[in-house]
Amino acid sequence: MQIESKESNEPMLMIKTEDVHKSFGSLHILKGVNLEVHAGEVVCIIGPSGAGKSTYLHCLKHLENIDSGRIYIEEKLLFDNKKGVNQVKIKNTELAESLLEIGMVFQRFNLFPHKTVLDNIMLALINVRKISAEEARERARVLLDRVGLADKIDAWPGQLSGGQQQRVAIARALAMEPKIMLFDEPTSALDPELVGEVLAVMKSLAAAGMTMIVVSHEMGFTREVADKVVFMYGGIVLEEAPPAKIFTNPENDRTRQFLQSIL
Ligand SMILES: Nc1ncnc2c1ncn2[C@@H]1O[C@H](COP(=O)(O)OP(=O)(O)O)[C@@H](O)[C@H]1O
Ligand SMILES: [Mg+2]
Repeated sequence: MQIESKESNEPMLMIKTEDVHKSFGSLHILKGVNLEVHAGEVVCIIGPSGAGKSTYLHCLKHLENIDSGRIYIEEKLLFDNKKGVNQVKIKNTELAESLLEIGMVFQRFNLFPHKTVLDNIMLALINVRKISAEEARERARVLLDRVGLADKIDAWPGQLSGGQQQRVAIARALAMEPKIMLFDEPTSALDPELVGEVLAVMKSLAAAGMTMIVVSHEMGFTREVADKVVFMYGGIVLEEAPPAKIFTNPENDRTRQFLQSIL
């Protein structure tokens, strides 16, 4: 599936950010992040703890409001902030609709512990997407099958392994039919033997053409699946390159040092 831009035959720019800044109090965390992600691309963000990777993903999904800069989703300007105030005149409903194009999976699975797997997936479908319970249940079934958990539909989160819970979290995000998926260290909280099953689901998603931004320290995955690797450091994108380039011959000494420290 290739979503093409209206203006040309290039794949559509699903996400573009220009000069995005974000502070928490006096801590200036994002210091002008520029990034472009085209339809069908898998972009892996790497970088040391505290670089602002999670903050950046939160800003894309508008879980945090940016101080300044511009955010485009599907070539539509959603935010052009100055001093935290959006200069774009856009209806809240229209903004919400665009933000629903983005699905997100966190390090911690964030499943509701007192709801079954089925209810975890159905909840937002019914409340946010406003589809019928019957249709939501059917969609949950299809998505659970896709992540290899069809038989866990009536299980409680506590009965599942961490890897299974994370796959349910992925199914839940996919059920909303996003066009872009953000993953924030989706395997960091897992026991090592459970990492592979989650990465396998992400690989199949990438192979199916999903546009993805993945923050991960899984360098095997990054090497194999990423179209572009982005090295974030000190709140900016210090370097971006295809994996073959960045892993063998990074331009920047900081990138080199970071890769040496983790490989
Ligand atoms: N809500 C917040 N309030 C205050 N500081 C925050 C908040 N979120 C993140 N930070 C700080 O921002 C910095 C960058 O964090 P983060 O984006 O999580 O980095 P990374 O994901 O690259 O490790 C950290 O120093 C963190 O403590
Ligand atoms: Mg983080």
